[in-house]
Amino acid sequence: MEVQRKGMFSSVMSWVDKRLPLTENLERHLTKHPVPKKVNFFYIFGALLMVIFMVQVVTGIWLMMFYTNTEEGAFASVEYIMRDVEYGWLMRYMHSTGASAFFFLMYFHMFRGLLYGSYQKPKELVWLFGCFLLFLLMAEGFLGYVLPWGQMSYWAANVILSLFGAIPFIGPDLQVWIQGDYVLSGATLSRFFALHVVVVPLLMIALVVFHIFALHEVGAGNPEGVNIEKYRDESGMPLDGAPFHPYKTLSALPAIGVFFIVFFGIVFFAPEGGGYFLEKPNFEEANFLKTPEHIAPVWYYAPFYSILRAITFGIPFLGITSKFLGFIIFAGSIAILFVIPWLDRSKVQSIRYKGVYSKIGMVVFAVSFITLGYLGTKPVNEMRTLLAQICTLLYFLPLILMPIYTKYEKTLEVPERL
Ligand code: HEM
Repeated sequence: MEVQRKGMFSSVMSWVDKRLPLTENLERHLTKHPVPKKVNFFYIFGALLMVIFMVQVVTGIWLMMFYTNTEEGAFASVEYIMRDVEYGWLMRYMHSTGASAFFFLMYFHMFRGLLYGSYQKPKELVWLFGCFLLFLLMAEGFLGYVLPWGQMSYWAANVILSLFGAIPFIGPDLQVWIQGDYVLSGATLSRFFALHVVVVPLLMIALVVFHIFALHEVGAGNPEGVNIEKYRDESGMPLDGAPFHPYKTLSALPAIGVFFIVFFGIVFFAPEGGGYFLEKPNFEEANFLKTPEHIAPVWYYAPFYSILRAITFGIPFLGITSKFLGFIIFAGSIAILFVIPWLDRSKVQSIRYKGVYSKIGMVVFAVSFITLGYLGTKPVNEMRTLLAQICTLLYFLPLILMPIYTKYEKTLEVPERL
């Protein structure tokens, strides 16, 4: 019976392969794709990002079946999902916790890239597609956050939309165009819904495909920065590599298991994440007459929000208000990530072999990013604003000075083999 099924399967596959080279492509891009033998903890986040992306798509489709995208119905439909829909609470908490998990994994995945110079030639495109993915994820999270139409959805969206309004000349018209109304309203909500469930996810899927294809064209990296393509055996397999399946598939499984244990631990026992994953004012319906006492973004936007708030001054003689300057520097803090492959002039990839300035730069960048994140969740006062200004400077400095210190610092010899 088993033999017969196998025979039938392979004849169907060979019928398909003659018309569409499915097996060849699966082997090339998945099962037989050579990956470095030795990587570390930081190299699991790409696979986990794929997993969480799927979780978001599946739970999102489920939520969409019960959600109402109108100003009158949105908040109540989320209540309905939480109380009446079978396992609705689970789907919603998985989706909201999934958003936080997505960013958490994304930040670690990017940090790995920074540590090991994974963006360096010839992986610039892999990095660029990644940066677009970060930008899209930020947009996706923001659009999704508006959908429950709670107090924080409404007021956070107001803050962000008013930034567009601060752009000189075109700002006010642009804001009305994005909102689809003179004020933030049901018209905004329904277009945000369309963008959140169709447009942005489709763009993200396309970019993930490009991200992976670009990576497979040039080969995956490793923490040593060794080029594994240099030495191959008779079959063409790199000596320091192993086929993706079964080596990587099996080694990823325990990590995926641990991830889900932590993930469901949060979903079941702390889905609000102490107000950091789901903020308290969002359990109250949007009210345009009542501003929440303290408008704070969800934790994953906090570092960038802090940069935005740190700019308390404008450039009056150029007609640039503090709000617009804040917007420019906030946009700049994301834009600068795109050009990192061209800022790093080092001869070596990995931080292990880079010089002392690169190491200091990395620590300064990471500490300032985390401090900005902390400050972004707290109400402002004079001290915190000053600290946020210093950290904003320290966020940019290691990146702006990178072309200088990476070119002149002393590096160590990279080994030939992994
Ligand atoms: C939806 C979001 C993303 C998904 C699903 C994703 C997925 C992946 C996967 C599966 C890999 C191969 C395994 C690994 O090396 O971890 C990878 C590699 C990589 N990703 Fe991403 N990624 C995403 C976002 C990003 C972002 C935001 C960046 C940086 C801006 C980025 C930069 C990279 C780089 C540079 C590599 C190559 C690493 C190397 O081989 O040395 N990715 N990504």
